Amino acid sequence: MTDLHVVVLAAGQGTRMKSTLPKILHPIAGRAMVERVLRTSAALDPATTTLIVGHQAAVVRDRLAPSHPHLQFAIQEPQRGTAHALQQAEPVLAGRTGTVVLLSGDVPLLSADTLRRLVDAHRTAGAAATVVTAVLDRPYGYGRVVRKNGHIARIVEERDASPTERKLHEINSGIYAFDLEPLFDALRSIASHNAQGEYYLTDLVGIYRRRKLPVETLVVDNPQEIRGINSRSELAEMSTLVMQKKNEELMAAGVTIVDPATTYIDPDVEIGADTVIHPGVVIEGQTRIGGACEIQAYVRIRDSEIADRVTINNFCLIVGARVADGVSIGPFAHLRPDTAVGEGAKIGNFVELKKTTLGPGSKVNHLSYLGDATVGAKVNVGAGTITCNYDGTKKSATVIEDGAFIGSDTQLIAPVRVGKGAYVAAGSSITEDVPAGSLGIARGRQSNVEGWVERKKGTTAKT
Ligand code: UD1
Ligand code: CA
Repeated sequence: MTDLHVVVLAAGQGTRMKSTLPKILHPIAGRAMVERVLRTSAALDPATTTLIVGHQAAVVRDRLAPSHPHLQFAIQEPQRGTAHALQQAEPVLAGRTGTVVLLSGDVPLLSADTLRRLVDAHRTAGAAATVVTAVLDRPYGYGRVVRKNGHIARIVEERDASPTERKLHEINSGIYAFDLEPLFDALRSIASHNAQGEYYLTDLVGIYRRRKLPVETLVVDNPQEIRGINSRSELAEMSTLVMQKKNEELMAAGVTIVDPATTYIDPDVEIGADTVIHPGVVIEGQTRIGGACEIQAYVRIRDSEIADRVTINNFCLIVGARVADGVSIGPFAHLRPDTAVGEGAKIGNFVELKKTTLGPGSKVNHLSYLGDATVGAKVNVGAGTITCNYDGTKKSATVIEDGAFIGSDTQLIAPVRVGKGAYVAAGSSITEDVPAGSLGIARGRQSNVEGWVERKKGTTAKT
């Protein structure tokens, strides 16, 4: 929409978070608060979007600019309140007409639907300002909506409210639509005579009413979506809500979640039907899991692709990996980035794979480390096999071709190649390639000293 503009306030420090990270960059269920606000407002297809930054402006800009090329940044320094913050958008909006939708970087759950309803209501009423409000059981901390004859008369902040005003349950969400025409002139007339000595945007309501400019409200039914985050405990509460919603969606789509209260699944994660997720599982980032999988308790998966019918046993960590159909992993396995596991392969307990391709049907069942390795199909890697891929300066590759058999407790000192169908004897330190079809053996020969025990007894004093 060419005459629609979005401004997001995000300059405040968020003192109550007690954090070095700017408040709006704190994640809710895996996505930064301000990121959520920006995604929602994009649904309005605004002509411009301006983020007001101040506290740690550079950190916020560095984080958001790359993924939001059209986002404009306006600096508010120092931060003198919400009205002063909005004033900083004047250079971007000067000379434009139409509607500004004002959002708060710390109100992350607002729905696109509510925003569309706000713009519609505002325009239909021909209002100068429309305030989104909600009626809360616990209104404490929010600005209260004071009505006269049913119509909004002004907004009073909690700290400036009288005892009677504090009893009001209708709160200001901090989300508004404004007609651009009178806005910036009116902002200049706001004073800072209040408990915090700040320029409150909320004072605009009283000012407009005195100037006989029409002010409307949009009361939302679901107060959760306009909740502001000011503390870590609110952050946790809100994360729980978002997680619950994600779990509900997945369950509705056919995923079994044994204990939703302890299951943490990020918003972009996809999971197929008939997959069972056991308690304490964390699935993050851009992860896709197929159908009919079993994810046992206390597994964490991040940015990975898991195909169908995969079993992941307890206590595995899987990051940046691709796992094909029918694979079994763990317990206690660690798959690190750039690992690809082929169909039907088996990865057992205490196995770590890094930048490793494991071919279909191959097995690494116990206590192994494979790094920078390319392993073919139907290879058997014995217990305790280690690729020595790092010599202190550079990483080197190990190749194990199809059908090879690596005996237990083998070190493969890279770069090295074990040919197709070759065997490596247990306990070997392999420093040279093993040709296809051969046996590589590299260990000290055993010699047995006959009668040694008897002789030893003879020399030891009896006690
Ligand atoms: C504000 C409203 C309050 C409302 C509540 C809803 C005012 C005066 N009060 O209070 O009526 O109920 O939101 O959540 O507007 N910010 C700036 N620059 C500043 C100050 C704040 O950019 O100088 C930004 C903050 O980063 C934040 C937003 O504005 O994203 C709201 O500021 P905050 O201090 O959290 O206001 P509240 O006390 O919550
Ligand atoms: Ca707030």
